[in-house]
Amino acid sequence: MIQVQNLTKRFGTLTAVDGLSFTVERGDALGFIGPNGAGKTTTIRMLATLLKPSSGTAKIDGHDINREQEAVRACVGYMPDFFGVYDDMKVTEYLDFFAAAYRVPPGERPRLIGDVLELTDLTGKRDAYVDSLSRGMKQRLCLAKTLVHDPDVLLLDEPASGLDPRARIEIRALLKELCAMDKTILISSHILTELADLCNKVVIIEHGKLVYAGSAQDVGKELEGGRRLVVQVAERAEEACQVLETCENVVSAQIVGEEIHAVFTGEPEAQGELLTKLLTSGFNVQSFSEQEVNLEEVYMRLTKGIVS
Ligand SMILES: Nc1ncnc2c1ncn2[C@@H]1O[C@H](COP(=O)(O)OP(=O)(O)OP(=O)(O)O)[C@@H](O)[C@H]1O
Ligand SMILES: [Mg+2]
Repeated sequence: MIQVQNLTKRFGTLTAVDGLSFTVERGDALGFIGPNGAGKTTTIRMLATLLKPSSGTAKIDGHDINREQEAVRACVGYMPDFFGVYDDMKVTEYLDFFAAAYRVPPGERPRLIGDVLELTDLTGKRDAYVDSLSRGMKQRLCLAKTLVHDPDVLLLDEPASGLDPRARIEIRALLKELCAMDKTILISSHILTELADLCNKVVIIEHGKLVYAGSAQDVGKELEGGRRLVVQVAERAEEACQVLETCENVVSAQIVGEEIHAVFTGEPEAQGELLTKLLTSGFNVQSFSEQEVNLEEVYMRLTKGIVS
């Protein structure tokens, strides 16, 4: 649904996005992450056809962002990181304005506006003035505006930033609902635990360059080269570590604090054999479990946090 090909953006001497390539399939929810200044917003703005690439291109639902901007805009809903709202405008007027801009025929607008108000839980505020809404409500209104022409692709730049925990959880539930509606979603955020919950894919960039693209669930496993097993023994940890290292399908084992971390490439069913081996070797095993390497840990290891 989204094919990014060698996308590059230079601002004077600064290369903000540097030869970026990745793809997003229909129905994917892709978490787009990277340190401040990595080039996320610049990339998203190019995909939304608001910024011209210096070189390279991207296709959205087969339409080229350089050559078919109108067609791209028709299938994309873009939620910017910062947005303005207008004074003296009611919620329904605001949505009607955007629906008109997207050439939704007047006869269809009331139904579509009703739908997006329902979806974003703003029905009760339909006659409120936009500038009287709270920040969280404005954020939801901005999402409603993004959805008003029923786009297949959503480009969301930090949609939950600055929201209180309840509003964030609500936005996340809403995004899950949109995933279930088979929308293709590209979302940038710095709240990695939330992305891990929502996304099936992640792309990590730094200095405008791709650092990782792949499955959100397997990213830890791919990085480590296997599953991480965490073992605690009452004593003789060094020895237990050596025993584990000699086991089949154990790539490495090391002591981390009180624990032994072993990287295991075998099937989950075969993990028990490692435990048996430790027990028959006379170790007093206190705990033995698989630990998921979470997105935050992956992120910290892959990015150096240098602001470009
Ligand atoms: N219009 C512009 N003119 C000059 N430089 C720009 C412009 N827009 C962005 N940049 C620079 O491009 C780089 C990437 O910025 P961008 O906003 O894409 O980062 P980001 O990944 O979205 O960061 P954040 O996480 O802080 O939102 C930064 O160094 C920024 O200063
Ligand atoms: Mg940004």
